[in-house]
Amino acid sequence: MGDGRTETGSAAETEAVGARLAERLGPGDVVIVSGEVGAGKTTLIRGAARALGVAEPVTSPTFTIGRRYTGGRLPISHLDLYRLEDLDGEDPALLDDYLGPDGVAFVEWPAAGADRLGRPPLEVRLAHAGEERRTIEIVE
Ligand SMILES: Nc1ncnc2c1ncn2[C@@H]1O[C@H](COP(=O)(O)OP(=O)(O)OP(=O)(O)O)[C@@H](O)[C@H]1O
Ligand SMILES: [Mg+2]
Repeated sequence: MGDGRTETGSAAETEAVGARLAERLGPGDVVIVSGEVGAGKTTLIRGAARALGVAEPVTSPTFTIGRRYTGGRLPISHLDLYRLEDLDGEDPALLDDYLGPDGVAFVEWPAAGADRLGRPPLEVRLAHAGEERRTIEIVE
């Protein structure tokens, strides 16, 4: 990942950044993925999940806060907590189904809320940089 900051010019390139990120992930890792609407959070997570062996379509969770994929090399969770107005009002066990010692969890979330998950090993920040360009920063 070089200095932790890169720029992409297409969704496919952002998926490739996700795939490269996946190489360093292992059981119990949590990756916070933040950025504005349409910045490419789900796209990056799709690329990572693919690289970890998930064959089924990776799409945004709807009607639920997350999805779990069990067909890959290890269990993968994809949560989208932007949909929660107020996590503080939620059952603390809400995330337990998705976070565990055996798998990798990707969490779309505003960076400001990340402390709720404990100290994540990795945070990825995406930002629009004009048309199909995006900046991607890996914060460790
Ligand atoms: N360089 C790029 N990287 C990622 N996505 C790109 C890029 N260029 C164009 N796109 C397009 O931008 C959109 C990104 O959508 P995506 O669902 O990944 O964003 P998101 O950050 O998860 O949004 P949301 O906040 O709605 O969950 C897709 O339609 C994708 O094809
Ligand atoms: Mg998304």
